[in-house]
Amino acid sequence: MASERDVRARLRRAGQEHLLRFCAELAPGPRAALLAELGPLEPDALREHCRRAAEACARPPGPPPDLAARLRPLPPERVGSASRGDPETRRLWEEEGFRQIALNKVAVLLLAGGQGTRLGVPYPKGMYQVGLPSQKTLYQLQAERIRRVEQLAGQRHGTRCTIPWYIMTSEFTLGPTAQFFKEHDFFQLDPGNVVMFEQRMLPAVTFDGKAILERKDKVAMAPDGNGGLYCALADHQILEDMERRGVDFVHVYCVDNILVRLADPVFIGFCVLRGADCGAKVVEKARPEEPVGVLCQVDGAPQVVEYSELSPEAARRRAPDGGLLFRAGNICNHFFTRGFLRRVTRELEPSLRPHVAVKKVPHVDEEGHPVKPLTPNGIKMEKFVFDVFQFAKNFVAFEVLREEEFSPLKNADSADRDTPTTARRALLAQHYRWALRAGAHFLDTRGTRLPELPSLPCDSDPPAICEISPLVSCFGEGLELYLQGREFQSPFVLDEDRARALQT
Ligand code: UTP
Repeated sequence: MASERDVRARLRRAGQEHLLRFCAELAPGPRAALLAELGPLEPDALREHCRRAAEACARPPGPPPDLAARLRPLPPERVGSASRGDPETRRLWEEEGFRQIALNKVAVLLLAGGQGTRLGVPYPKGMYQVGLPSQKTLYQLQAERIRRVEQLAGQRHGTRCTIPWYIMTSEFTLGPTAQFFKEHDFFQLDPGNVVMFEQRMLPAVTFDGKAILERKDKVAMAPDGNGGLYCALADHQILEDMERRGVDFVHVYCVDNILVRLADPVFIGFCVLRGADCGAKVVEKARPEEPVGVLCQVDGAPQVVEYSELSPEAARRRAPDGGLLFRAGNICNHFFTRGFLRRVTRELEPSLRPHVAVKKVPHVDEEGHPVKPLTPNGIKMEKFVFDVFQFAKNFVAFEVLREEEFSPLKNADSADRDTPTTARRALLAQHYRWALRAGAHFLDTRGTRLPELPSLPCDSDPPAICEISPLVSCFGEGLELYLQGREFQSPFVLDEDRARALQT
């Protein structure tokens, strides 16, 4: 470990010597911890990080003044659709996706390094359960979907196949996530095919470019954003691991979308058949002021423009078909070839520009007393996973139905959107629709048939509670076998045991 003298000299070079101002009064344990935290910070990079943060903060807020003139919607030939278009083409995409999965060429990669501050639980978001009858957590739902897709691809092609699961974590989420997976026996996945790795952390910085001390013995550090993926892939030789396993295509997704279709064969097949190196699923923006980033072209290159960067006039513009001109809402669900990821990690990552988030960062005052700020006092710098789209040689977008594929868990139930309640409703409404489509009928506790409402408003509970295990069906497939023409009392859980019993 570096000595205090070394660390002090490095910090002086970075203009951050104040981080050691309480060092002399610390007991040996906390002092060693502080030096261990500071030791690896490379002085030039630290100085540059702090300078960039202060500089970015000094820029006037709002969109770059000339953005509107440089903005175009994605050209239609770059956009496919899961629901529009002819079923035969969709079937060909699906077939190709399953073929690639059966050849073990597809991996999924979960971005799970976020702190989930808005949800406000003291553990990783993937461990959260939104109150389904089965009480499954987000991690469990995802693990079971992976197992089911492996099974479906295997059945089609008469093989046993594997979809490796890469999980990017951070200092906050690695320990508890690894422990949780162990406690749950990796949800019956082979632990050798679940690869967890850690993203880097960066210091939070004051508006005048000084790294912040959270405690006398600890710097306020935050993960470097989900675009920290590219450094983390290189740090932990993840692309080499993929190469060893023969993985060519990677489906990257966020931890908090309860409806996420992992290794979605239709999306993968679409991207592969179009020869794409980079792709993104999108949903139609619900209304002009909806706070989601939109995929468009800036100076001809694909880019996600954040809602704060899109002027209200641009957000309201209409296309000839009456829909919003900038309608392609980004849902953090991406396709990359391994070759593209290699180009990014080897050559392009340093040119990604970090984004600035102004936050309330707990810190110590000049006397070392803890302070919980009431107004934002610090800057966190983050890179975003989608910032690499600009480098794609053949970028495609794939439009999917929101009610089938996107319901993120961002906030606690006190908020009015993206909460545990909205996520639970979205999943239960989907399963209810699938069950009706497969010919099921539902009864209340007195045996009276409940009304059948195939299209439900998204902010209400379905008339019957029906939860379907991903191990039985993960896209709504094959349910007629168990449900056709049958009556079930609500609440109804179709798990593997129940499915077996219904078959006999
Ligand atoms: P969000 O931007 O929603 O952030 O992350 P968050 O950390 O989950 O929640 P808040 O903003 O603190 O409330 C979108 C996705 O990116 C991942 C998250 O885990 C989530 O899957 N992420 C975010 C990372 O993997 N690393 C990060 O540094 C930030």
